[in-house]
Amino acid sequence: MGFTYEQFVADAREAAGQAEPDLAVKALLEQTLADPAAVAAAVPERHEDEIRLFQDDTVSIWSCRFQPEVVMPPHEHKMRVWVGVYRGVEVSTLYRRDPEGLTVTATHATAPGQVLGLADDVIHAVTAQGPEPSEALHVYLGPLTDVERDLFDWESGAALPFTMDRFSAMQRPR
Ligand SMILES: [Fe+2]
Repeated sequence: MGFTYEQFVADAREAAGQAEPDLAVKALLEQTLADPAAVAAAVPERHEDEIRLFQDDTVSIWSCRFQPEVVMPPHEHKMRVWVGVYRGVEVSTLYRRDPEGLTVTATHATAPGQVLGLADDVIHAVTAQGPEPSEALHVYLGPLTDVERDLFDWESGAALPFTMDRFSAMQRPR
């Protein structure tokens, strides 16, 4: 059967409920994205960049598109996240907070068919590489919109409570 959001949500919920949710979610994404072109062809046409497919206390499942001309601001999740890309290249820049501000510690470019895991204390900014938007399935091991988490000022690194409005307002050109 081809890819559907409904089946992926069912499978991701099942994976997140297993004894080793990290391994199960990673394996599910690797298996789902073994043919990324098939997933890209099967996903419904989208109008929003961020689509929440499901959330409960153990898992939050999103379909996320990032635009190449802007970078979404540094933020934390306070939970594990697994990212599986099916179109374009999603670029995560990881930061460490220092007294002077934010210092880049790593950059990950995740291409179609690849899966990236981020630790629960990661701070990252996200964009798409090249001329095309990236599209990915994001599976967070917790109730993402129910936890208090922060965004971080690009210059000072100062923490600000995360809201979707602020997340949009703080984006900057790549
Ligand atoms: Fe993120």
